[in-house]
Amino acid sequence: MNPVYEKLCACYESIRARIPFTPEIALVLGSGLGNYASKMEVVEQIPYGDIAGFPVSTAPGHVGQFVFGYVEGVPIVAMQGRVHYYEGYDMTDVVLPIRLMKMMGAEILFLTNAAGGIRQGFSAGDLMMITGQIATFVPSPLRGANIAELGNRFPDMSHIYDEDLQQIIRKSACQLDIPLREGTYIQLPGPNYESPQEIGMCRVLGADAVGMSTACEAVAANHMGMKIAGISCISNLAAGISPHPLTEEEVIEAGKMVERDFSALVTCAIGHMHEA
Ligand code: 6GU
Repeated sequence: MNPVYEKLCACYESIRARIPFTPEIALVLGSGLGNYASKMEVVEQIPYGDIAGFPVSTAPGHVGQFVFGYVEGVPIVAMQGRVHYYEGYDMTDVVLPIRLMKMMGAEILFLTNAAGGIRQGFSAGDLMMITGQIATFVPSPLRGANIAELGNRFPDMSHIYDEDLQQIIRKSACQLDIPLREGTYIQLPGPNYESPQEIGMCRVLGADAVGMSTACEAVAANHMGMKIAGISCISNLAAGISPHPLTEEEVIEAGKMVERDFSALVTCAIGHMHEA
């Protein structure tokens, strides 16, 4: 068997008995956004460290566990903390949790992150729905032998972010009177933030927000045929736009700043996704 798939199956088998239900939605909580788990009606928690061979997150603002629970009566599995490429893991390990949540039964992937704002007019604390992405500055998680059990060798990426889910998020923001921006997310490898020149490059490429995660996860999920939604919390302006040096504390602070709107939007959108 393909060693990547073998590891995935072993991870699944090791926690299978602890999975309390078939989740409808897999939610990835980004840097500074992990507190959302406290809004859930929690049923079970599985620390990543309990899963043999599972990549354990070391990033600040990431707890490192799966949280199973209900949001608006919808069974969901949330990742309180994700794994980043810059931590040194192979891309197949970075997306292993995403694949695992699909194996648990989740058909919808709701991605969130903290990102740097590139587009003119963006400010720290803005919420941006991801409508498209640029993932080509990091290796594809699909590199290597194709795992036919998961998807095709050459999956189409024309519509990574599901149009219906985008409409649901727009409607939810409107209903809650929460300002929502939209745009393209670019993933860079990190862990260093970008130089102003690199941000200039990102802007020329059409990116509106920059981060170190998410896009590779969306590629892996799209390969498996999941429906994908994404929201970036603009935690700071990117280099050359921001008047001061970037710090990780800023990312955590911005998480707190948008917590209310973020939580309300995610909860409302999950409710509507279930209805759809
Ligand atoms: Cl400015 N860049 C990157 N790569 N990731 C970020 C960020 C910037 N701000 C938050 N996350």
